Amino acid sequence: MRRKWNKKKTITIAIISSCLIFLTGYIGHPVRKVELEGLITVAHRGASSYAPENTLPAFQKGLELGADFLECDVHLSKDGELIVIHDKRVDRTTDGTGPVRDFTLKEIKQLDAGSSFDEKYEGERIITLDELMKEFYGKIGILIELKSPALNPGIEEKVVELLEQYADLKSIVVQSFDVGAMKRIHELNSDVQIAVLMKNTFMPITSTYLDELTSFAEFINFNVSSLNKNVVEQIHERDRKVLVWSKKDRRLIEKAVRYGADGVITDFSRWPAEPEVTSAED
Ligand code: G3P
Ligand code: CA
Repeated sequence: MRRKWNKKKTITIAIISSCLIFLTGYIGHPVRKVELEGLITVAHRGASSYAPENTLPAFQKGLELGADFLECDVHLSKDGELIVIHDKRVDRTTDGTGPVRDFTLKEIKQLDAGSSFDEKYEGERIITLDELMKEFYGKIGILIELKSPALNPGIEEKVVELLEQYADLKSIVVQSFDVGAMKRIHELNSDVQIAVLMKNTFMPITSTYLDELTSFAEFINFNVSSLNKNVVEQIHERDRKVLVWSKKDRRLIEKAVRYGADGVITDFSRWPAEPEVTSAED
């Protein structure tokens, strides 16, 4: 009887112990950790999950969080200034309405670019690329995206002219979905590093096209949804780098690591410390 009880007790203790070991492991690792070390990190529109996208506080936060680069989007104003804003129109991110190219810089500077994100940023102003460079050049890399160059004629020349005021362009990259505009930048000054943003419609990408792109671009960048391991390998074979972006950071980082990408363009969502947030829509 005593032997039977002991056996039962032993089995019960074993089951409880297994459960405890399992639970301890689970509680100790409630969220799967993803290794960011070794990846180039780019703060997308600044650390745009913390502060209004493409504003000084978002860029400052990206610097504080230890990003390698700040990503920004650039349009031309009515009077030909390089304006840091994502959309063609000011409506989504400011209290104004209308296309960016219908505003002079003076008019743009009157818009509130903070309140739509959070009232505590009320009065935050849109900045120019010149202001961004003056504030951050030398402290962190800057990834400048030319938005719709076809709608902003002359934007390539203006960006190169601005960059040429800086002696060392190693920490600067210019990118666009517009391949022609990126070739133009390369022709204007081959010291400017180029990234080509790949549209999902360009996929699958042929090796001939990759040869052409990598003849002038240092980076070929993908949305997480169109990335695959094979294309990363082909780009690495050509001694070029791959950055990957997404509106969902968790998926982005996991996939970038799995496919061997060199870096991530991320909103710096507060995950895993806080629930993941989604960045603004296009
Ligand atoms: O850097 C890549 C990414 O910024 C491209 O998409 O719409 O956020 O400018 P979007
Ligand atoms: Ca962008």
